[in-house]
Amino acid sequence: MKPIQMKRWRNWWKMRHTDKEDNKDAFRSGPHNDQMAEGDEDLREMTRQLELMNTLVKVVEAKDPYTAGHVWRVSQYAKQMAEKLGWGTKQIAWIEAGAMLHDLGKIGVGDAILQKDGKLSEEEFAEIRKHPEIGVHLIETSTFLSAYMHGIRSHHERFDGKGYPERLHGHHIPIEARIIALADTFDALTSHRPYRKAMSADEAIAIIEQNRGTQFDPALTDIFVGIAKEAGFASIILHSAPAIPLVHCPQHGEIIERTRHAKPGDAAYCPACKKSFRLAEQDGRWMVVM
Ligand SMILES: [Fe+2]
Repeated sequence: MKPIQMKRWRNWWKMRHTDKEDNKDAFRSGPHNDQMAEGDEDLREMTRQLELMNTLVKVVEAKDPYTAGHVWRVSQYAKQMAEKLGWGTKQIAWIEAGAMLHDLGKIGVGDAILQKDGKLSEEEFAEIRKHPEIGVHLIETSTFLSAYMHGIRSHHERFDGKGYPERLHGHHIPIEARIIALADTFDALTSHRPYRKAMSADEAIAIIEQNRGTQFDPALTDIFVGIAKEAGFASIILHSAPAIPLVHCPQHGEIIERTRHAKPGDAAYCPACKKSFRLAEQDGRWMVVM
């Protein structure tokens, strides 16, 4: 791709991830035809691929509604890591996109297991542990999506070699997978679950640090912790999109997703209560009512 095309694509990617009302068409459908030069085929192809990828992400989230916004948050933590590492524009966009696809293989895991509230049996855990390889199987014949294969396959590997599916260790684990592993765990810890409240960022960082060098790459852990302490991740934690915080459920905390175009009175589903509420808004703060 030529630099000018890359810049235009990058601008569109950034625009998609902002909350400006006047960008809503771009958020929905990518660049308008009149924004593209005649014959700008690379850009058109990239746009088609990203739209396809967005659809895949929505399919994964529909399977596992408890993780509202998880994919977006993981991609944002990974992006910040890549920026701190001094990666180029293309590599940053690549890991941001790859992080969005990391759990694609959950499409192949049964709903009864993914959506189970109680403790999982050893057999059920074994089923969940298949998702990295299912994900690889889904994308390996796509020349576009196979660029994200290592992040999908290896994001549950551990630095000490005790992870899955291949028990890779240290720098044998591809860097994108080592970054996604940190982002994925931090997001799980700072998100509410039906059986426990979300941890604060400080509590989650303390756990990440305890696992430095065992679960996580020590050098990448230091960078992740450094970003968290320096700039904070407040605009990402408990959000499902830029400037869209999750809505508070009276019983389960911030867990309900509000779409960008939702209006007061619209239905909002709590994945923990497993029922719908109505959205209400007061002084810019969103809540749910019966
Ligand atoms: Fe995963």
